[in-house]
Parts: sequence; C-alpha cells; structure tokens
Amino acid sequence: MEGEGLMRSGGCKRERQAWFRRGLALLWLMVAAGWSIGIVPAAQGSPAGAVGDAARGRNLFNGKGVCFYCHGLDAHPDQLPQLAQDTASYVAHLDPKPPHLREPLGLKMTGDKERFRLIREGHVGTGMLPDANLSDQEIHDLLAYLAILRSPAASKGESHP
Ligand code: HEC
Repeated sequence: MEGEGLMRSGGCKRERQAWFRRGLALLWLMVAAGWSIGIVPAAQGSPAGAVGDAARGRNLFNGKGVCFYCHGLDAHPDQLPQLAQDTASYVAHLDPKPPHLREPLGLKMTGDKERFRLIREGHVGTGMLPDANLSDQEIHDLLAYLAILRSPAASKGESHP
C-alpha cells in the first residue's frame, strides 16, 4: 500500500515528534490551568486559616446572614430593622440579649474558631439560630468583618465611659 511506505519514511517520524511536542505543551497547559483553578478555592474554602473579605462580610451581616435582625444594622444595637411584630418582640425578649459586637470588653468569645462554630451551629439555649445557608467562605467573610468591628478604630468615639 502507498500509505505504509509513507509511514516508514523519515518525514512521518518528524511529524510524529512534532505532535508529541505539541501534546506535551498541551499537557503542561492543562496541569497549569488545573493547578490555578484547583488551588485557589481549596485555600479559601478550608475552615482553618482561610482569609475572609470584610466588605462581603458586612453585606452578609446586613443581608443574607440576617445578623442585623438581632445585632443591629452594621452591628449598632440601636439600629434594629423594622421587623414583623412577632419577630420584633421575639428579638426584644431574647435572654441573654444580643451582645454589642463593637465593644470587645463585653464579648465572651476569644477566638475565630469558636465564633465560626457559633455562627455555623448557633447557640443552644439562646436566640441565635444555626445558619445552614452560609458557606464556610461566607462565615470567614463575616469573621473578617467582626474583627474590624472589634478593632479600636471601629469603636472609637462610641464607648465613652
Ligand atoms: C436571633 C437573634 C440573633 C441573630 C439572628 C444573630 N445573633 Fe449573634 N448572638 C445573639 C445572641 C442572643 C448572642 C449571645 C449569646 C450568648 O451570650 O450566649 C449572640 C452572640 C454572638 C456572638 C458572640 C459574641 C461574644 O460574646 O463574643 C457573635 C460573634 C455573633 N453573635 C455574631 C453573629 C453573626 C455573625 C450573625 C449572623 C450570621 C448573628 N450573630 C446572628 C443573637 C443573634
């Protein structure tokens, strides 16, 4: 056959080498792409040591996370939203009361691991419900926001004795 003759010729061999090199290059591209898309979510999504985005955390606090129902808009306890009558009265009668998240001295929790669990699982026996709607990353965003609230700059001018 004509084709068989061609297959054995040097020209075909060179062509196969070219294809091999192109294949290698493609493989490298795939590995690099897989690495870049695989590694980023892994680093952000892990509960330990993940980095949160405080701006997104603030939006979650005043939105999807419904934290502001009890802790107030932007964590100002005197700025509770207008809620339905029964929800408002439920929040008003919480015991213990929702703490002022901008006043570090009045807070009990000392670490983000603890806070993460509190937000994920809720408080047994208090008004703070578990929030299954939030992803790990969203909780880290909230934690980043809460950390800013606790910093001296955030409470400056508010906590005069
Ligand atoms: C239904 C009311 C309610 C909602 C909604 C709520 N909390 Fe709370 N939260 C409380 C109460 C009450 C406590 C105090 C519980 C206690 O002292 O045992 C608390 C405690 C906390 C604490 C611990 C403060 C400390 O003492 O160190 C943090 C942090 C916190 N909440 C953050 C959040 C975040 C973030 C959200 C939204 C995802 C949220 N809360 C939603 C009522 C609420």
